[in-house]
Amino acid sequence: MKRVCILGISGKLGRYMVEHALARGYEVQGVCRPESVGKLGPWKDRIRVFPGRTDDRTVVADAVKGCDGVLVVLVPWGVSGYATKTAEAALDLAEPGARLAFSCGWHITRDGKDRYSLGFRLMLGIVAPLMRLFRFADISDQVRACDTIFASDRDWTVVRGSDLEEGPSEGLPVWSEHVGDAVLASNRTRRTDFALFMVAALTDRSLIRKAPAIVSCASPSGRSAAPPA
Ligand SMILES: NC(=O)c1ccc[n+]([C@@H]2O[C@H](COP(=O)([O-])OP(=O)(O)OC[C@H]3O[C@@H](n4cnc5c(N)ncnc54)[C@H](OP(=O)(O)O)[C@@H]3O)[C@@H](O)[C@H]2O)c1
Repeated sequence: MKRVCILGISGKLGRYMVEHALARGYEVQGVCRPESVGKLGPWKDRIRVFPGRTDDRTVVADAVKGCDGVLVVLVPWGVSGYATKTAEAALDLAEPGARLAFSCGWHITRDGKDRYSLGFRLMLGIVAPLMRLFRFADISDQVRACDTIFASDRDWTVVRGSDLEEGPSEGLPVWSEHVGDAVLASNRTRRTDFALFMVAALTDRSLIRKAPAIVSCASPSGRSAAPPA
């Protein structure tokens, strides 16, 4: 891995990914909305920024050129298919053979075998329609985006984040195939470690075409996980 592109580079997750990718010695470039370029000030001499929306195919085509890894922050803002168009742009325009990693939450299910708590289902059942009603965000757009990724034969990983918290790194999160698995019960991950997992996924071939649900390795349930072989 030499050069990575981050679509959504100026958000909280994006900026943590910048740190982790630079720490690995990668060249880093990325796309963010023009009004957000200032958020990248601390790294301005070490990264290349392509101002634009992450669903703008012209901008994405330039930004992913020459990148062997593409990290995509999938967010369902608005009701115009922002997440789906962002995912399609990454899948269609990344270099042949590039590794792709997409972020989302536990609500995404690949095979319908995730088991959600009543609280989680209630929250989603109430919050999602309200967000759509006020045209603030459309969770079903993120679902469509991920279904498009799951159907793709590119080398993708969809990383499903638990509830996030700020704070120093606790180490690479542990993961499981399905929400509801005992190891995930603590449902918390440091945001910096979510970013660490995204960046690490680019060089982990065992994660190709997987949708790992992650949890902090230092959380009570995460500590119960078998150590990596
Ligand atoms: N928040 C959580 O608790 C949580 C839990 C599990 C998983 N996740 C996943 O983690 C990822 C990052 O989520 P986050 O909450 O931590 O947010 P974040 O890192 O702050 O990222 C938000 C992204 O959305 C962009 N954005 C904000 N408003 C926008 C708009 N109106 N139009 C277009 N783009 C806009 C931001 O760009 P600007 O910098 O330009 O504003 C930024 O790239 C997502 O994939 C999410 O599904 C989040």
